[in-house]
Amino acid sequence: MTTSFDLIVIGAGPGGYVCAIRAAQLGMKVACVEKRATLGGTCLNVGCIPSKALLQSSEDFDHAVHGLADHGVVVGSVSLDLARMQARKSEVVGANTKGVEFLFRKNKVEWLKGSGRVVAAGQVDVDGTVYTTKHIAIATGSDSTPLRGVTVDGKRIVTSTGALELDTVPKHLAVIGAGVIGLELGSVWRRLGAAVTVIEYLDRIVPGVDSEVATAFQRILAKQGLKFQLGTKVTGATVSDTGVSLSVEPAKGGAATTIEADVVLLAIGRIPYTDGLGLAEAGVALDERGRVRTDAHFATNVPGIHAIGDVVAGPMLAHKAEDEGVALAERLAGQAGHVNYAVIPGVIYTWPEVASVGQTEEELKAAGIAYNVGKFPFLANGRARAMGATDGFVKILSDKATDRLLGAHILGPDAGTLIAELALAMEFGASAEDVARTCHAHPTLNEAVKEAALAVAGRALHI
Ligand code: FAD
Ligand code: NAI
Repeated sequence: MTTSFDLIVIGAGPGGYVCAIRAAQLGMKVACVEKRATLGGTCLNVGCIPSKALLQSSEDFDHAVHGLADHGVVVGSVSLDLARMQARKSEVVGANTKGVEFLFRKNKVEWLKGSGRVVAAGQVDVDGTVYTTKHIAIATGSDSTPLRGVTVDGKRIVTSTGALELDTVPKHLAVIGAGVIGLELGSVWRRLGAAVTVIEYLDRIVPGVDSEVATAFQRILAKQGLKFQLGTKVTGATVSDTGVSLSVEPAKGGAATTIEADVVLLAIGRIPYTDGLGLAEAGVALDERGRVRTDAHFATNVPGIHAIGDVVAGPMLAHKAEDEGVALAERLAGQAGHVNYAVIPGVIYTWPEVASVGQTEEELKAAGIAYNVGKFPFLANGRARAMGATDGFVKILSDKATDRLLGAHILGPDAGTLIAELALAMEFGASAEDVARTCHAHPTLNEAVKEAALAVAGRALHI
């Protein structure tokens, strides 16, 4: 058994497994410690992949029930086989996690099964065996944020993990938190027949998303049947055999009331996960929010120990973790790995999707940056009309003086795919005019991006 490595990565999520593979590609002898029975971390096991599987299945179900007739497709009565839907989700997850195992074998990354603990720089303990290594990468990810008075039991009160596993459709699902998880998983269960109430502390949904987009998004979700109780604080939960009684009150003060639900989804954010890692003993500093403190090159305060992904600062997104994994491996190999944090897209995989990259209008105003706005609605896009998917718009923000792209925000069909064009353009320092003068195929949804870019200079053609 090998006990000495160039790099030991702790955690096999998108940050850790990608870092391990890239380091192995660059000639390092690499091990990755993972305590879960399968590789892939939160993302592949209980996050991105199972949620997208259920979003797809529930969207297909909803479309069969409500959308096909308009296309002249008559399907008779449509029924739900939730057990099959969940089984398919597990098959999708299994194929993905096994795929990472295959990649480890292909790249000769050794999977050390068990819990990793940092003994000191150069030493990692895995369930009692100490391995030596030149470098350590901490990639232990994150966990759901708890809420006082709302105890997760995995049945009546669940986090995203439990909400991905329900074996019956709740009559009433109460969601605490109108963030990404709440709206994605709230959408899944709404489409499958649950009444869904989303309770949010702030007076808006999806904080961080451009507020014009968030307002339009909320309107669309409300039309789909999601109920919103904004500016509301949950103060406690009482579980009975039949359901949960949530105590709520206005965030700014006022009379308390209750909301009765069959199931409650707690989704108020995620916190870095460092349990049992031995960081205090090893002298690795955390920041004020419990994240591993790193410099611009992913180095902690202890030489030889690095950290990436959800456990460090920055957006808790799989692709951010992956890019950090690649950049760290390249740095350890003496190359110039780098992540451009100004151009990390974010996508909410609801229907329609919400996608953004760069700065929001609010951020530009707060920073005192003068900008131009170009907008184009999908209602005026031929392909969106043909699809019957005309909700939403593309919004492009560019620098008033130079026309350089500063941000892009899309609410609409396949927004998550459309945003890639704008992320690429921003990475290359493009102007709105560069996008506008690029030939876009017709009829595609991407033409709405081109038209929004044209609209920045007041010269959209189709509106
Ligand atoms: P993780 O994926 O959390 O992996 C960390 C791994 O480390 C885990 O497997 C854990 O078991 C292991 N570990 C921890 N401590 C130890 C230890 N001491 N020893 C051994 N192993 C250890 N992001 C997106 O970009 N797109 C999405 O669509 C998306 N959907 C999501 C949906 C849900 C429901 C959730 C919860 C999250 C979603 N995310 C999404 C976020 C995404 O999952 C995370 O940003 C991503 O997984 C972070 O990767 P990571 O490698 O930092 O950590
Ligand atoms: P979030 O940060 O997206 O949203 C949490 C919401 O809860 C916010 O609106 C916040 O104001 C609200 N909130 C906080 N405390 C509250 C309280 N006490 N009562 C009521 N509301 C409260 O967090 P979420 O949805 O849990 O997701 C965690 C993270 O996982 C996301 O930030 C994202 O990084 C990642 N994720 C990404 C996905 C994607 O990329 N599509 C999908 C799912 C998760």
